[in-house]
Amino acid sequence: MPETLIRPYRTADRAALFEIGGDTALFGAPIEAYLDDRRIFLDSFYAYYTDYEPEHIWIAEVDGQVGGFITGCTDTATQERITRQKLMPVVWRRALTFQYRVGWKTLGYIYRMIRTGLLHEYPEVDLSEYPAHLHINLRANCRGLGLGKGLMQAWLDQLRELGIKGVHLGTTDQNVAACKLYEKMGFEILAARKSRMWGRLVDGPVEIRTYGRRIE
Ligand SMILES: CC(C)(COP(=O)(O)OP(=O)(O)OC[C@H]1O[C@@H](n2cnc3c(N)ncnc32)[C@H](O)[C@@H]1OP(=O)(O)O)[C@@H](O)C(=O)NCCC(=O)NCCS
Repeated sequence: MPETLIRPYRTADRAALFEIGGDTALFGAPIEAYLDDRRIFLDSFYAYYTDYEPEHIWIAEVDGQVGGFITGCTDTATQERITRQKLMPVVWRRALTFQYRVGWKTLGYIYRMIRTGLLHEYPEVDLSEYPAHLHINLRANCRGLGLGKGLMQAWLDQLRELGIKGVHLGTTDQNVAACKLYEKMGFEILAARKSRMWGRLVDGPVEIRTYGRRIE
């Protein structure tokens, strides 16, 4: 059996976290199926957690290597504001100065993202009840070792210590193992909507789900 450990994040973990984040973003598989340049996703999405809320990230180590992570946020409204005001201007500047590869995959993705928003296919969440959120991802060869449960428990314990009322997360019915993990850890589906966000990458519509859990 490999040696495993759940520990707090360190700044030196950033590159490994970004690599795993990109390698697992499409229902556990690499993001390149729908984006030409993973840096667009990492700079606009994961940079918030590593650069603004690193004290709420937990790392799963397997035989001394970073095998996965849970990135946490205690106040989703603040995360959305910082992403809009601080991260997105950087992403736009890099895009407009040709620092990213932008091809048809990326343009198609942006189009589908806007369409999904206009069709109200992203389930809403009551942030006054579930202010915190999380993202959890493990390398393919580090799954099924109990690390998902370990990471989740570390974040739930931290939220309890901080006195946070509730936590939510977004996923899809394609993330089968993840949905099982969430239900096992006491989360319930708060809202679910069918969406064609992922286009032809998946047969038929995908169900986007919001799960939530109160912290007692
Ligand atoms: C989801 C994920 C974090 C789970 O972590 P994990 O370490 O593999 O899960 P654990 O070993 O802790 O198992 C926890 C529970 O999840 C469920 N589970 C785990 N793997 C499963 C699988 N392949 N199929 C079905 N259920 C599974 C089981 O209920 C399990 O509990 P049990 O062992 O008591 O039966 C991991 O599989 C992963 O990173 N997947 C790809 C990325 C992803 O989908 N992230 C979530 C995005 S929303």
